[in-house]
Amino acid sequence: MLNWRQLLGVDATSRRQFLAYNAALAAVPFLGNTTQAVEKPRFKDNPFSLGVASGDPDHRGVVLWTRLAPSPLQPDGGMTPTAVRVGWTVAEDEGFNKVVAKGSTLATPQLGHSIHVELSELKPDRWYWYRFHVGDAVSPVGRTRTLPLPWAEANQLKFAVTSCQNYEQGLFTAYEQMARDDVDLVFHLGDYIYEYEAGRNGKVRTHLGKEVESLGDYRVRLSQYRADPLLQGMHAQCPWFVTWDDHEFDNNYSNDISEEQGIDPQRFLIRRMAAYQAYYEMMPLRRRSLPRGPHMQLYRRAPFGRLADLMVLDTRQYRSDQPNGDRKSPLNEAALDPSNSMLGGEQRNWLYHSLINSRAKWNVLAQQVMMGMVGFPSDDEPLSYSMDQWPGYAAERIQLMKFLAERRVPNPVVLTGDIHSNWANELRVNDRDPESQLVASEFVATSLSSGGNGEDKPSWLEELQSENSFVKFHNRQRGYIRCNVTPETWTSDYMVVDQVLQPGGKTTVRASFVVESGDPTIKIA
Ligand SMILES: [Fe+2]
Repeated sequence: MLNWRQLLGVDATSRRQFLAYNAALAAVPFLGNTTQAVEKPRFKDNPFSLGVASGDPDHRGVVLWTRLAPSPLQPDGGMTPTAVRVGWTVAEDEGFNKVVAKGSTLATPQLGHSIHVELSELKPDRWYWYRFHVGDAVSPVGRTRTLPLPWAEANQLKFAVTSCQNYEQGLFTAYEQMARDDVDLVFHLGDYIYEYEAGRNGKVRTHLGKEVESLGDYRVRLSQYRADPLLQGMHAQCPWFVTWDDHEFDNNYSNDISEEQGIDPQRFLIRRMAAYQAYYEMMPLRRRSLPRGPHMQLYRRAPFGRLADLMVLDTRQYRSDQPNGDRKSPLNEAALDPSNSMLGGEQRNWLYHSLINSRAKWNVLAQQVMMGMVGFPSDDEPLSYSMDQWPGYAAERIQLMKFLAERRVPNPVVLTGDIHSNWANELRVNDRDPESQLVASEFVATSLSSGGNGEDKPSWLEELQSENSFVKFHNRQRGYIRCNVTPETWTSDYMVVDQVLQPGGKTTVRASFVVESGDPTIKIA
C-alpha cells in the first residue's frame, strides 16, 4: 500500500523533499473562476498554433479536433484557466460556400483547451472541409471525409500506414509525399512521440526538457511534435485512425508494469493517467476514448462499406508482462505459456466478435507489434525471438490464426508498426512450419523518422530469409506504406525517403506487393 507521502509524490521520508513539495504547491497559481466561459477572448498569439485534425470517421460523421494554444510549448498552452467558447463550421466545399453544419463548443482547462467535435449528421462517403474560430482568430482549413454506408459496395479505399516519428532522429519529410498521395485515411500505429529526455539520440533537432512524466510534460512533448508543419499539414489532409504503442507513455511497458525494475505499479498508473489524458487531448478521438483514470478505450472498429472492416487494436494497455525478462529468447516454455496475453480477455473477445460479425471483403487488423514469428539466427544457438512482439505471446497469436482459419474470415490483413523497418510477411497458423495453413498477410511499416536514414538491405538479410521463408520483403529505410484496396486486390507500396537528416529528401516507391482476394500469398506487383 502507498502511504500519503507516496501518493503526494513525496515517497522518501526526507524532510527536505517534503518542504520542496510544499513550496511547489504554494507556487501553483490561483485557479481563478473556471465556471464562467469566455465568449470573446483576445489572444496575443495565434491560438491555433497546433493546427486542426480529424479522425475516427464513420458513415455519418467524424471527429473534428483542435486545441487552443497561443504558447504551445507551455504546459497550459498559454491559456488562462477558464473555459472558452469555440465555433466550428463544416462545408461541402473548400471555399465554405455550402455550409452544412456549424455550432460551438467549450474548450475547457481540464482538457488542456482541446476540442473534440463529434459530428453525426453528415452524408456518407463524401469529402468535407472544416475550420474553427475563436474571438478574431480563424483556424487553418482541414479536409475530412465520411465512410461509405456499412452495407454499401465500396469500390476503392486508399490509405497510408505510419508509425514511429522520433523528432530528434529525423525530419518528417515523408508526410510531404503522403499529402500528395491523396489518401482517404491515415493509420498511425504508435510512437507518435518519444518520452525520452532532450538529446538522448539527437541527430537533427532536440526534445524540450527531461523525460516526460507529468501531464504538463506530456502536453508539451505532444505539442512540440504537432507544431511540426509537415505533421500538422498531413492531419489537415484527411481523417486519421490513431493508436498508441509504448512511447506515448514509457518504453516497452506492459499494462501497469514498467520496463525498469522496482517501479510500484500504483505510481506507474498515476504517470499513465497523465500520458493517456495528454494523448486524448491531442488526438481526434471520440468521446468514448475520454480517459477514466489510467484507462482509455482505444480499440475500435469502423466498416468501410462492405469493402473493408477496419479493426484498430491496443496491444499495450492490457498485455501481460513480456516473458523471459523481455530479452530476445528462443520459443521456450515462458514464451509459449498460454496465460501470456497481448490483447487481454475483453479486447480478445471483442475482436473475435467483430471478426465473425464482419460482412467485409477485407478484414484489417491495424495494430502495433509484428505478428510474423521472425526467428533471428545467432551462432550455435537456437533462433531467438522478440519477446515484446507476438512471439512472446505465441499461444494467443496461434489461437488468433486458428480462429481466422476455422471461421473462414475473408482476407485478413495485419498492419504493423513499432520496429523501424519494412517487412512483408505471409502469416501461417504456425509460421515455423511451412506446411501449416496460410491464413493472413502482414505489412509492417517502417518508421517515419526514428533511426535516421537507415539502409536498404542489411548484410544478414539472406541468412534471415533462409530461416524465415515467410518473410517476402525487408528494408530498413524511413517512410510509410501506401495501400490501395479494391474488391479484387490489395496493393501495398513501400514508400521510402532517401534522406531524413536534411530537408529536401525524396520519397519514392521502393517495392510494391499485391494480394488477391481469396489468397493471402504476397506477390510482387
Ligand atoms: Fe518506435
